[in-house]
Amino acid sequence: MAALVAVNVGMPKDVPWHGRTTRTGIWKSPVAGPVMARRLNLDGDGQGDLAGHGGEQRAVLVYQLSSYRHWQEYLERDDFTYGQFGENLTVDGLADDEVCIGDRYGIGGAVFEVTQPRVTCYRVGLRLGEPQMAALLVSHRRPGFYMRVLTEGPVRAGDEIVKISSGPEEMTVAEIDALLYLPGHARPQLERALRIPALSPGWKTSLRALLDDADHGSGAAGGNRGLTTSSPPPAWPGFHRLEVAGIEPESASIFSLTLAAVDGEPLPAALPGQFLTIRLRPDAQPSPVIRTYSLSGRPGAETYRISIKQEPHGVASTYLRQHVKTGDVLDVAAPRGTFLLADADTPVLLLSAGVGATPVLAMLHALAAERSQRAVWWLHAARDGENHPFADEVRALLSQLPAGRSFLAYSRPSDADRPGVDYTVGGRFTPEWIRGLEPPRDADAYLCGPSTFMRDMTGALEAAGLPSSRIHTEVFGARSALTPGVVTGSARAPHQPAAPPGGRPGPSVAFARSGLTVPWHPGYGTLLELAEACDVPVRWSCRTGTCHTCETALLSGRVEYAPQPLEPPAGGSALICCSTPPADVVLDL
Ligand SMILES: Cc1cc2nc3c(=O)[nH]c(=O)nc-3n(C[C@H](O)[C@H](O)[C@H](O)COP(=O)(O)OP(=O)(O)OC[C@H]3O[C@@H](n4cnc5c(N)ncnc54)[C@H](O)[C@@H]3O)c2cc1C
Ligand code: FES
Repeated sequence: MAALVAVNVGMPKDVPWHGRTTRTGIWKSPVAGPVMARRLNLDGDGQGDLAGHGGEQRAVLVYQLSSYRHWQEYLERDDFTYGQFGENLTVDGLADDEVCIGDRYGIGGAVFEVTQPRVTCYRVGLRLGEPQMAALLVSHRRPGFYMRVLTEGPVRAGDEIVKISSGPEEMTVAEIDALLYLPGHARPQLERALRIPALSPGWKTSLRALLDDADHGSGAAGGNRGLTTSSPPPAWPGFHRLEVAGIEPESASIFSLTLAAVDGEPLPAALPGQFLTIRLRPDAQPSPVIRTYSLSGRPGAETYRISIKQEPHGVASTYLRQHVKTGDVLDVAAPRGTFLLADADTPVLLLSAGVGATPVLAMLHALAAERSQRAVWWLHAARDGENHPFADEVRALLSQLPAGRSFLAYSRPSDADRPGVDYTVGGRFTPEWIRGLEPPRDADAYLCGPSTFMRDMTGALEAAGLPSSRIHTEVFGARSALTPGVVTGSARAPHQPAAPPGGRPGPSVAFARSGLTVPWHPGYGTLLELAEACDVPVRWSCRTGTCHTCETALLSGRVEYAPQPLEPPAGGSALICCSTPPADVVLDL
């Protein structure tokens, strides 16, 4: 008979960590006497980061005495106390390779249902003083599991645990954890898992993404679609030399460059929404200047087109405008990116402002090329007719679509601009105006423009009933950081590290979106830690090669892993939390 050995609770607290402060509820302590198990929590318990932990599906975390014994031996430790693994219920019995998702248990006066394995994040490693703990829990197949509370009631240490019913499909916690995090993702297993009603919606979304990947044969690209969306593998590694085949003005401030293979062969087809990265060597700059530009031409054309806004004082845009001529050769990394037009037959909204038109224009080209029957709405915001790029091109493309519509906002129309002819709205697109358009709720929306434009339009589309999962955005700069639980974030722009560790500097590490190149020193530990030392915005969760949150397109170079990730990233990408650069690298950060 399984038994409840300890009931552990704890409220979130601020903990110093890596020179920062993180807010975490991982510290739990045993409670004497009965504790009420409620729908969202045990009484007196809380989670620091509700995006990753807590909520109805993750009300109570369970960990087993058998795993305590395993880790005591493996880690050669004898200092564990109940609650050490962040669990609410320490139990004797209920092993991860016996308990199944959907099993129901009665404990004291409460009834529980098993919903999913533990979420892998760095905090369990922080609690144990073992940074690799998140990966070890998965690789040793001892994650522990979450339960939801079906009937609220008191529980106390010493209660018997009575199994009430078994989950359908009889998939164990260990099995389903491995299905998501370890290589393999066998199709029949994914289908079985998705038939379990009790499996949490979050895990179902991840496993469905793995199944879609298997269905579309894209699994060959590597990586783990259940954990992250990776850029499709690049058509070539590193930088290739491409020739400037043409230069065209598009508006008062935007011009296009057409790039072709030096040998005249057709370039590999890019996907609608992808970008190129260019390495320039202006004389006045101490190191190469690396910048990224969305492809604006027809995907599948034999050449690539990028369109650049000349920024006042902008290093790359000024150099490209003033120094680059037809016939020049540029170093170009292959098309990448995850802002891609999804294959579907539902409506498409393409919303852009200024030079943000480029990636959505490539999508419009793709839709026009296939004579798409989908409803396609083009919404673009410009200052005036002089600063309105691609006006004729867009008109011609929309005319090829049976269900194409166009809405143009000029914030400061000139006397020459004709309302109702050249533009639809005088002023900006306001959230109220967008809502008034009643955009179709089953549409996929693709947005690109300044951050305020994207924030306002995202809010307006959500208010108009579009689910956030159907709103896709491309940022022309560094992506926002994801640092779960860290409460003392940095507002500093990316910079050279303050005090590099001693010793000889190693290869150079370029953070392309942040416009920063810095020398590597082994003392940083990992590429993630180097990025943090430079305040380059980063995204991570486990910090030990399990969750793929830190997966980053590797634009050039290669990395070495220590420890090895549980599953390798997609081809052409790197997991920066557990890797170092043996030679120069360029990262899409
Ligand atoms: C995925 C992605 C896609 C992109 N697609 C496009 C695209 O299609 N078209 C496009 O044009 N750009 C695009 N960008 C942006 C592009 O990569 C560059 O950031 C942009 O061209 C500016 O680079 P720059 O070297 O000219 O400016 P930087 O030298 O990097 O300067 C950046 C900004 O600071 C300002 N600045 C610089 N020096 C000074 C100074 N001394 N005083 C005051 N202000 C100053 C500049 O005016 C500029 O606005 C994209 C970026 C990403 C990440
Ligand atoms: S942060 Fe989890 S794999 Fe890197």
